[in-house]
Amino acid sequence: MSNKEKILVIDDEMAPRESIRMVLKDKYAVSTAPGPIEGLRMLSEGPADLVVVDIKMPRMDGITVLQEIKKTHPDTEVVMLTAYASLETARDAIRHGAFDYLLKPFDKDDILTVVEKGLAKRRSNADLKTERDTLLDRASTLEKQIDEARSNIVMCCEGTVSALILTIDAKDRYTYNHSKRVAELSSAIAGELGAPKKTIKEIEHAASIHDIGKIGIDENILRKNGHLTNSEYEEIKKHPAIGMRIVQSVPFLEDAIPVILYHHERYDGTGYPEGISGERIPLSARIVIVADAVDAMMSARPYRNALTAEKVMSELRDNAGTQFDPDVSDVLLSGRVPLLSPDGVIQ
Ligand SMILES: [Fe+2]
Repeated sequence: MSNKEKILVIDDEMAPRESIRMVLKDKYAVSTAPGPIEGLRMLSEGPADLVVVDIKMPRMDGITVLQEIKKTHPDTEVVMLTAYASLETARDAIRHGAFDYLLKPFDKDDILTVVEKGLAKRRSNADLKTERDTLLDRASTLEKQIDEARSNIVMCCEGTVSALILTIDAKDRYTYNHSKRVAELSSAIAGELGAPKKTIKEIEHAASIHDIGKIGIDENILRKNGHLTNSEYEEIKKHPAIGMRIVQSVPFLEDAIPVILYHHERYDGTGYPEGISGERIPLSARIVIVADAVDAMMSARPYRNALTAEKVMSELRDNAGTQFDPDVSDVLLSGRVPLLSPDGVIQ
């Protein structure tokens, strides 16, 4: 099979059609069509690299043929043939996507030059297309690799968070599953307050490791039955700062710092470690403060029973504005988020 580039000449007049064929036949694979209908049919049977079309033909004018070719074979270059009287139409054809035009009577060199230029443009377009396709392929492979790497990282992060939660809960047996419940309640409250999905997820993660600093506190103090001495209480109060130091070195846990550091602040400014108040306490921490307290009240301790839902509600009401952010407490007081006992029963 010939590797020559294919050229189709469409002209109802035999003389110009044949003279163009004679000029091009040695260098290119040239076919001719005696009219627009035949030409378009030949193109549909086998595409051409370049088509030479006469502007004035019976049945269908050259501009219509050009538009038809550009619709079905957008990569094929088209050169118009025109008499001087139709020069304006030829210029119009260029606006419709023709590569150039040849003015009758044409000389051999003009034909060769215009056709060669048209084919060069087609080759460079084809090269660009191949290059673009290769780049798109490479981009989609990279995108897949990035997606895979991202989901591996997410899996790794989730695994690390789970391991941390287990560590905290194992260290302080009275808080068994406490972290998970605080996380669930915090995310429900955040959702009810209209936080975006990503923020809810961040608050849930942060809440689940809010007590991570307890890893650095003496177990005997953590597990002590009954009231703590002043110095023991001072020791316990270090856990938010210890927690912050632990997660500071882990980039994907950095978002949890506000919750870890401030989950023992009080709305009225009498909490620890910094004694900040009101909206200076990050909202994520204000949410976890309420969820943490509610879950602690609803869980039994060796020295007391779990509080009833009524008692929890009255504590929330009494301490809204002092210990708790009133807007956050209201999400539970209004019943928009139900109170759940540690075994998941709605109270
Ligand atoms: Fe804590």
